Amino acid sequence: MPRVKKEEQVEKKAKKRAKPIQLVKGMKDVLPPEQYIWEHIHQNAEKMCQDFGFGRIETPILESTDLFKRGVGSSTDIVEKEMFSFETQGNDQVSLRPEGTAGVVRSYIENGMSKWVQPVRLYYEGPMFRYDKPQQGRYRQFTQFGAEILGEDSPAIDAQVIYLAWKIFQKIGIKNVSIQINSIGCQSCRTKYKKLLTDYYDMKLNKLCVDCKRRLEKNPMRLLDCKEEKCMQVAAGAPQIIDNLCPECHDHFRSVLEYLDELEISYVLNSSLVRGLDYYTKTVFEIWAEGEDSESRQSALGGGGRYDGLVGLLGGEETPAVGFSFGMERVAEKVTKMNLDLESRIVKDVFLVQLGDLARRKVLKAFDKLIDTEITVGESLGRGSIKSQLRMANKVKAKLALIIGQKEALDNTVIVRDMKSGMQETVMMDDIVKEVERMLKKS
Ligand code: HAM
Repeated sequence: MPRVKKEEQVEKKAKKRAKPIQLVKGMKDVLPPEQYIWEHIHQNAEKMCQDFGFGRIETPILESTDLFKRGVGSSTDIVEKEMFSFETQGNDQVSLRPEGTAGVVRSYIENGMSKWVQPVRLYYEGPMFRYDKPQQGRYRQFTQFGAEILGEDSPAIDAQVIYLAWKIFQKIGIKNVSIQINSIGCQSCRTKYKKLLTDYYDMKLNKLCVDCKRRLEKNPMRLLDCKEEKCMQVAAGAPQIIDNLCPECHDHFRSVLEYLDELEISYVLNSSLVRGLDYYTKTVFEIWAEGEDSESRQSALGGGGRYDGLVGLLGGEETPAVGFSFGMERVAEKVTKMNLDLESRIVKDVFLVQLGDLARRKVLKAFDKLIDTEITVGESLGRGSIKSQLRMANKVKAKLALIIGQKEALDNTVIVRDMKSGMQETVMMDDIVKEVERMLKKS
């Protein structure tokens, strides 16, 4: 075909090709190379929760909008600006959950869990949605792993939840975490404190950012963790909640810290830690990767606290509770940066190598025999050379390469090559499982 015509055809084809559809803003694909990191995080967190006596709970992604308005708080950024809310065809107002705690509490009430042996310990993992400004570590769909303990008000339980979070990060391999902790008191000490805070900020109005001026009336405590430089300077001189706790909240907090000392878990008292959800009472905490300062707290790996009023607020009997959650994406990004040696997940015992059509068919047969055993098996079914396939075997750290060339395919045999020593043996295809087991024991 003349060159010009061919080029015309290629151009025509390119024009016809549909425009690719892109990922929705703020969303993220988790591809196979990242999956083993996610699996590593998931397995360690789940095992730790189970060892601590937690049971898994799954609640729907879609809940009634009122649950979050009432639970998380209608004046929080999450509910005010960040929810994916819509009306169903049946005219119900629903939202994609922005966090996991409210749904767990709804389920606790609805399923009569207050009749179970208390406290009830639940853990969960799943997607959450916040229409936030996307940036590094901040997505519009993200995955939280969380744990909640409902039905116990002892400060020992607050400490245990923090201990669990800390243990999970240790197990995952993120050893250098800093636990930032504060107490925001109960409703009664907070009412007094908010008045003090509003009086203080009223005198500094001209030094505040637009958002803080707006927040001052509805949610003055949020001003304490504004990230604007000028607001941070004002916050530094603000009265501290810790000096304004009622005796009960004060004692509770002191005990939490004593338990943490007992467990030898170090923490940083952070008086500007107030958290962005309205349901918290008394203890609040966040887990930061070590080295992160207050400016980067938006990238906290996890956070949580006590929420003694939430079950009552959502229509259940008054029930104390405490919990935490962490973001899988942020933790996975941290693990990726740390280059932990997690490659054992892609390691195979044996790798099947072939040359030619008939050999490829025999590889499928050998694969079928091996896949039902304990032996982990990888294979190449492409047209690459033996050398390039052996390179693939090396990549997955296979101990043995099982090579089938044209001769072996006809003889119904397999060459078993010890990847370390280079020694080779020919065995019958029918004996492959037995022979591989024998040679794996030797290698
Ligand atoms: P939170 O601090 O809003 O707390 O979120 C917990 C964690 O979820 C954060 O520390 C972060 O790792 C992750 N996260 C939050 N927003 C995003 C985002 N846009 N993109 C990526 N990751 C994000 C809660 O949600 C509470 N329910 C925690 C809790 C449980 N308190 C008591 N029990």
